[in-house]
Amino acid sequence: MSAWAPRSPERLAAWRRLGVLAERAEQAPEGDRFVRFSARLGPLLVDYSRQRIDESVRQALIALAEESGLDAAIRDLFAGEKVNNTEGRSAEHATLRLPKDACPAPVLQARERFLDIAEAVRVGRRRGFSGRPFETVLHIGIGGSHLGPELCMQALGGTDAPEVRFLANVDGAAASRMLAGLDPATTLVVVVSKSFTTLETLRNAQTVRSWFLERTCDSAALAKHFLAVTANVQACADFGLPPENRLPMWDWVGGRFSLWTAAGLPVAISLGRDGFEELLAGAHLVDEHSRQAPLDENLPLLLALLQVWNTNFGGAATHAVLAYDHRLRRLPEFLQQLEMESNGKSVRRDGEPTGAHTSPVVWGGEETNGQHAFHQLLHQGTRAFSADLIASIRPSHHLADHHHRLLANCLAQGKAMDEGRAGENAHRRVAGGHPTTTLLLDELTPHALGALLALYEHKAFCLGALWQVNPFDQFGVELGKSLAEPIHDELSRGVASTQDPTTAGLLAAIRSKR
Ligand code: F6P
Repeated sequence: MSAWAPRSPERLAAWRRLGVLAERAEQAPEGDRFVRFSARLGPLLVDYSRQRIDESVRQALIALAEESGLDAAIRDLFAGEKVNNTEGRSAEHATLRLPKDACPAPVLQARERFLDIAEAVRVGRRRGFSGRPFETVLHIGIGGSHLGPELCMQALGGTDAPEVRFLANVDGAAASRMLAGLDPATTLVVVVSKSFTTLETLRNAQTVRSWFLERTCDSAALAKHFLAVTANVQACADFGLPPENRLPMWDWVGGRFSLWTAAGLPVAISLGRDGFEELLAGAHLVDEHSRQAPLDENLPLLLALLQVWNTNFGGAATHAVLAYDHRLRRLPEFLQQLEMESNGKSVRRDGEPTGAHTSPVVWGGEETNGQHAFHQLLHQGTRAFSADLIASIRPSHHLADHHHRLLANCLAQGKAMDEGRAGENAHRRVAGGHPTTTLLLDELTPHALGALLALYEHKAFCLGALWQVNPFDQFGVELGKSLAEPIHDELSRGVASTQDPTTAGLLAAIRSKR
């Protein structure tokens, strides 16, 4: 049973103390800030010296973590307690990253199985119905069953393995473009859906199955070309796949934490077994840190505390993820789901209103592109925000000056957001005072990426614990899904609508122009 008894955050003494500190006039910046407010964790350097904190704020934040019972919350997570209290489930994604000698047998067996399949596809040992090796892997999935794998592929994907394509959106434009030019004889389809009920994924999977059967006229060939990664055994069978074509997901792994299951199969195909194991090892390094580090040295917790400071005491309603690495251009979307689906909540674990703001809007983009788009607002707009600037120290290419310019811009933007620019001319003045954290990866390797993603996963968990919300459910997404069903029914039958006036009006407008 959990030792962690959540309490409303705004009632805690440390919360009130932070409120007092937030009212205080700015302190003069200390010269040794970088030394005191930066830390290294394996391949990651986390510099938070441009956050609006001093030692007294740091101490008050750590006191908040203590008072909020973060040590017990972290213990519960790793002990497999039902931290997902609203669904009565544990959240054991860290188990998936355990080294072989510490991994529970069923988890290790499942890992070995999908890594064996990945390796066989990669080297051309596992082939399609015609005997030709696979040239394309078509990954079908959405949300947590898509963003992590695609992020990893863009960050790390090799060129000496089959090409991996991702089909997520239900928009037929995506499916028809995806299938154009594909050869079913050399295409492996991986359908990833924990529930196997997700509308987009099922619709796309059915379309791709029809495309495959129309061209091959051989339903027996389906089993050579389709794999499913799902917890839903029956739905997988109903889709027409034999049991051996199903790779498991478990109810103790949330969709947005599922990259480390067979959902990562395309990543494993591209990186190979060793590369995928490195990804897991990087994440495991951060798991161990998160589990063992004292609260005042715990980096994911620190990132979470800084977010609380900025969101709840600094008025930052948005948090920007600025990726100074082209290969990490999917990171903002990945973190959007991770943080907003986890902590975009307004009731606490016990069902009472939170009484404090929870997740900021997480957004961002690839830099330096964003500098020529939305940075104007960041520097001179009227809103408070916080940001993470993320870059890799060693590049993957030999264009040294490109890389120096990229890194220089990363550092310059943090400086500009922090220091601003004084001056007589109001139009040219930049206020500054915006808090940022700079994360530097030694090099974008599988190990470093695994560590980075696990850092953010644990940050999201700690934020949930600090705000006292359950970060592992997402009931808010259900309403829209269920409302779409009767609308779809009226739309496809072309009948007069019985919906509310706005929906009926829009449906009539659509009907009239079809
Ligand atoms: O719509 C929300 C959601 O349930 C996410 O949490 C999840 O990652 C995504 O849909 C896909 O779910 P599934 O893997 O069950 O298809």
